[in-house]
Amino acid sequence: MNIIIINGPNLNLLGKREPEIYGCCSFEDYLESLQEKYPDITISYYQSNIEGELVNIIQETGFISDGIVLNAAAYTHTSVAIADAIRSVKCPVVEVHISNVHKREEFRHFSYLSPVCMGVIAGFGLDSYRLAIEALINANKEQQEDEH
Ligand code: DQA
Repeated sequence: MNIIIINGPNLNLLGKREPEIYGCCSFEDYLESLQEKYPDITISYYQSNIEGELVNIIQETGFISDGIVLNAAAYTHTSVAIADAIRSVKCPVVEVHISNVHKREEFRHFSYLSPVCMGVIAGFGLDSYRLAIEALINANKEQQEDEH
C-alpha cells in the first residue's frame, strides 16, 4: 500500500508550536516511528503552508495512492478549494487533527472537509495519524475482498 500524509500550515512547527496543545515531538521523528511500525506500507509525507500547494499535492497523489491522511490544519475551517480537490480524486482521504477541535474555539468546530472525507479522527495527539492509517488499511482490505 501507498499512503501519503499531508500536513497543512504551521504543522512544520510541531514540537515547537504550542506544545501544550500539539506536543513536544517533531513530525519528522514521529514519521520515522510510523514508518518503522508499518514496514510493508510506503508512507510518504508532504507539508505546505500554502493552500494551492495542498490542492496540487492532493491532485497529484489522489489518483496514484491508496489513501491520503490529511491534516489541513487551519484550512480545514476555511477551504472550499481543498474540499473540491478531495472530491475530485479517487483515493479515500481521512481528515486528521492532533487536538480535539470540538473542545476548542467554536470556529474550529466547522470543517469544509469532513463531508468529503472517508472519516475524521481528532483529539488523540500524534496517534491520530496512526489511527487514520489503520482506517485506510481496513478500507483497503475490504475493497480487495469485495473485488474477489
Ligand atoms: C489542527 C486543528 C486546527 O484547528 C488548527 O488550525 C491546526 C491544527 C490539529 O491538528 O489539531 O493548525 O488541525
